[in-house]
Amino acid sequence: GKVFHIASIPGDGIGPEVVKEGFKVLQEIEDQDGSFRFESREFPWGCEYYHKYGKMMDDDGITQLKTFDAIYLGAVGYPGVPDHISLWDLLLKIRKSFDQYVNIRPIKLLEGAESPLLPAYHDIDMLVIRENSEGEYAGAGDRLFQGTPDEVALQTGVFSRKGTERIIRYAFEEANASGKSVTSISKGNALNYSMVFWDEVFQEVSEEYPHINTYSYLVDAASMFFVTDPSRFEVVVTSNLFGDILTDLGAGLTGGLGLAAGANINPTREYPSMFEPIHGSAPDIAGKQKANPLAAIWSVSQMLDFFGEEEWGTKVLKAVEKTMTDGDVLTPDMGGTATTAEVGTKVVECLKQMK
Ligand code: NAD
Ligand code: IPM
Ligand code: MN
Repeated sequence: GKVFHIASIPGDGIGPEVVKEGFKVLQEIEDQDGSFRFESREFPWGCEYYHKYGKMMDDDGITQLKTFDAIYLGAVGYPGVPDHISLWDLLLKIRKSFDQYVNIRPIKLLEGAESPLLPAYHDIDMLVIRENSEGEYAGAGDRLFQGTPDEVALQTGVFSRKGTERIIRYAFEEANASGKSVTSISKGNALNYSMVFWDEVFQEVSEEYPHINTYSYLVDAASMFFVTDPSRFEVVVTSNLFGDILTDLGAGLTGGLGLAAGANINPTREYPSMFEPIHGSAPDIAGKQKANPLAAIWSVSQMLDFFGEEEWGTKVLKAVEKTMTDGDVLTPDMGGTATTAEVGTKVVECLKQMK
């Protein structure tokens, strides 16, 4: 049968706790299906590794990861290592090295999930397509006149034509396949170079898809409408930083960070794609078995879709929903008293029942 090679990077804080539950789910699927199996290798990279070896990953880490079909990552960053070092040397390095330029983050209110907007809105179902390779995260900038009263810090947003076009086109293709609208979220009024350019490219690409409804919002107004009228949004395409912020906002509307998943995709498949919950290492609850593994498990569902095993991807999401509608085994963030491991086991039980 087929073998899917998965590189596992549990990382920091609650990362290892939630990734463990993701693998429980993969194991159950392998046992039930029989037509494929997963081969995984764990990489102990992260902040503890940094304290031991002075680096976040092996020097040839990117080469080591290259041959895998997918990377499954928990979280990176922990007090004790400056965040800009831990993130740039591991998570952001992987996204960039493997040109994972599409960050797919579903903001969808699953059955059984709590929302501060309920009972008003049941139809929160957007797909945020976040540009994931450049923009405000280009890493370009400078620190000038350090230690003087004239000190200046520069952070340059880089929006290339290729980079902007390809992400917008990806959003249109996604909308084309699902019959949905595309909304661009930008900020051309203030960001008079980058976002004016973004808006122009959005206009150009939209002309190639005359049958698709398009909308364009400024990011400030969009933030309000996310909360007051989320049903306006279907496929959303936005820049790296705006997408980062808007998807945590979206998570707050659909069950919290414990239930928000993301996929970092390289559509050419020349290099591995990476699947991870959108939350961080949650130092405030780390090591206590309090973390909600459902976000990480949803990311497993995205990974299965990516492998072409969509039936399993859908089943995993259904099992997550069943876990929440049953409601007897949930972590504290969802009002329960169960441990991370108990919730993972519950999802596996739901998968068994769905056989
Ligand atoms: P965070 O996402 O780690 O936590 C924010 C809040 O949400 C905390 O109260 C936390 O307890 C809660 N939370 C997050 N995930 C949860 C889960 N699965 N279950 C229950 N509650 C959960 O964000 P932060 O505190 O701003 O960042 C902590 C560290 O993580 C920083 O070093 C940051 O840079 C890093 N970070 C990493 C990633 C990543 O690896 N992709 C993402 C975001 C932040
Ligand atoms: C995320 C995270 C990262 C990002 C950080 C940790 C660099 O917040 O995946 O959303 O900003 O992309
Ligand atoms: Mn984020």
